[in-house]
Amino acid sequence: MKKIYLDQASTSCPKAPGVADAVFHYLSGHAVNINRGSYDTAFSVEEQIFDTREQLKQLFHFPDKSRNVIFTANVTASLNILLKGLLRPGDHVLVSSMEHNAVMRPLVQLEKTGISFDRIPCDSAGNMLLEQAENLLRPETRLLVCLHGSNVCGTVMPIKAIGEFCHKHGILFVLDTAQTAGVLPIDMEACHIDALAFTGHKGLRGPQGIGGFLIREALVSDMVPLLSGGTGSISHTEEIPDFMPDRFEPGTPNIPGILGLHAALSCPGLMCSQENFRHEMKLTEHFIRGIRSMDPLGKHLRIIGRTDCPDTLEAAVRCAVVSVLTPEIDMADAAFQMDNTYGIMTRVGLHCAPSAHKTLGTYPQGTIRFSFGPENTIEEINTTLKALEEIAGSC
Ligand code: ALA
Repeated sequence: MKKIYLDQASTSCPKAPGVADAVFHYLSGHAVNINRGSYDTAFSVEEQIFDTREQLKQLFHFPDKSRNVIFTANVTASLNILLKGLLRPGDHVLVSSMEHNAVMRPLVQLEKTGISFDRIPCDSAGNMLLEQAENLLRPETRLLVCLHGSNVCGTVMPIKAIGEFCHKHGILFVLDTAQTAGVLPIDMEACHIDALAFTGHKGLRGPQGIGGFLIREALVSDMVPLLSGGTGSISHTEEIPDFMPDRFEPGTPNIPGILGLHAALSCPGLMCSQENFRHEMKLTEHFIRGIRSMDPLGKHLRIIGRTDCPDTLEAAVRCAVVSVLTPEIDMADAAFQMDNTYGIMTRVGLHCAPSAHKTLGTYPQGTIRFSFGPENTIEEINTTLKALEEIAGSC
């Protein structure tokens, strides 16, 4: 059976051309460490890592130096480092009601240390009701953190307006780009983004296990490093360095991951490609229309979230993630049948985002999620629609 991968929101597949080769080349050759050896081979790896920071600085229109691009394992690690490093007891945080647990769990943990938060409401399609944020502000509000694109239903947050709101009220803006980095353009300067967390294995189409964050220089000295350890620099002291990137990068980094990400970022025309986005929106629209035409009343198959699919990057209101509720069919059973009978890979349940599902009205049962990438095809969507029709028809 031909397999159809529709779990791109979980991790992209296939990876960008050259990623596997770059990882293989490094690991099968002189897989040397960086910042520690005084030999040419190490210097050349260091150069590629420097170049990767530069690529990310450019991709996100980061106005400060590329030494403030920090590598971590993933977006979750980045958000933990940022939130736990920036916030102090007594601080208040604003967050959207659509967040993933990568934001919510650190915040709930921090609540026990005297940090409080409020959720900015979002409507039943996941759109942020930013006008309600003003009422939630307090003198001690320090930061707003939110995702850019929902991993549950694809709704995109208005980051320009959120950035202006934060700027106007003098609060920090931290953005989780798990679903959008490499897909939608993000301008940190124009959107007043103080720190941006990314992962390398989704829209950036690099390997798993590599992510990072970019942080404005003005925040660095005030941010407490979550991790301490050897950096290969100023080894005479037992204090973590105060300079970047060493301040937030103790220990040997994921060098194969960075080099794989470097290969992805080096692919001409791949990042924030208008053509790829148009294709993804075409697939998304075709899928949504197909479901609506087979079940106009949503009795068996109900689309959750926005149903519009503007297909230019400038007009984007969603990414290629669609959640479907099957009111009369057991969701886990439907997902099992999709895979077992039709070879279609999806993700079912709450997608690590209970707050988002509460907002969308799909808690606690969750949804079946279909997420598309640039290499999925209309034929695959047609096969999926047929499978859904058969599964829904058999109940
Ligand atoms: N957060 C990722 C997802 O939604 C893993 O699947």
